[in-house]
Amino acid sequence: MKFAIKTLSAAVSLTALLSVTPGRAAGIDWGSIAGKEVVLFYPGQASWEWALTPADMSGADDFRKGKNCDVCHIGEEKDMGPQIVTGQPRTFTPKGQAPYEKPSLEPTPIAGKPGFIAATVKTANDGTNLYVHLDFKEGAQPDAKQDPAYATKVTVMFDDGKVPEANRGGCFAACHDDSAGEVNGGGGNRTMYLPRTRAKMTRQGGGDTLKAPEDLAKLKADGYQLEFWEAMLNPGQPAKAATEIVFDKRGAAGPSIVSAEATQSGGSWSVTISRPLAAAAPYTALEPGTVYYVGFAIHSGHTAHRFHYVSYERTLAINSGAADFVAVKK
Ligand code: HEC
Repeated sequence: MKFAIKTLSAAVSLTALLSVTPGRAAGIDWGSIAGKEVVLFYPGQASWEWALTPADMSGADDFRKGKNCDVCHIGEEKDMGPQIVTGQPRTFTPKGQAPYEKPSLEPTPIAGKPGFIAATVKTANDGTNLYVHLDFKEGAQPDAKQDPAYATKVTVMFDDGKVPEANRGGCFAACHDDSAGEVNGGGGNRTMYLPRTRAKMTRQGGGDTLKAPEDLAKLKADGYQLEFWEAMLNPGQPAKAATEIVFDKRGAAGPSIVSAEATQSGGSWSVTISRPLAAAAPYTALEPGTVYYVGFAIHSGHTAHRFHYVSYERTLAINSGAADFVAVKK
């Protein structure tokens, strides 16, 4: 059976709603747009601080010298996720070198969970909205019972280029050693946050001590924040959408501007997340000529927090430009 489900966020005005009826993403002919594979892998407790520590992640020194995560890792995700998700020590066999082992990154593995999801991602715009479209199969996902409300959540983390850590490290810039469920999370509920909002960052994360209010205001004024666009899904129910901001924490910062549509058939999801190109503060207006950065996350099998799949960073441009995804006008 195939069913189509659709929501528009409550924040969309009635006029906007009427002017685009029937169906906004429905107007995009996705068959006419070439997709690119983005493999989302299970990261376990791999955090920003972990990735920046040479003893923990061998690429840390090269990252600090300027080599971005994607350069070393895009193409390896289908190997990474399956060995992290088991909770066992991880093994590596570099070409021409002896194999070596690294400790487990997952103290509480979910038995039988697949290690990655390969999504086909397409983007487009219609002069009014940006559309990000993902097609993926989740595989056989055990029910983790962490989020009873939603079977699946699809998230785009959007960086307008003003978060240097995210330009280079994607979602990992917001994921810290002391966030919920991480090594130093201490059973708390600390959300994602950006490093420069903290008075001091250590190997254990930044804790709760923020910079002085005037310094935080300066960061804000400089656009130092990530947008978090999420589609919340259950088979057979309308998709729900949320827009949040990641700065000193993750949370709602204004009216939601994201819409989501989804269909599910035979274990395959087809999900479209859209957002107006124009947007008032606290959101970024999307314009041609700028290179943006995006990361993708999928929570599958009723998972929450870090028990998700994540991608390395990709670039996005509107209409034209040199980027992984060019949202052409349709
Ligand atoms: C210079 C290349 C290089 C760069 C840049 C790099 N890494 Fe790595 N990464 C490695 C190598 C090599 C390994 C294999 C394990 C080891 O030796 O630590 C690894 C392992 C990993 C793993 C675990 C994979 C597994 O199968 O267990 C994760 C997750 C990871 N890196 C994330 C990152 C993130 C996030 C960044 C950017 C902040 C990054 N890496 C930057 C080289 C790199």
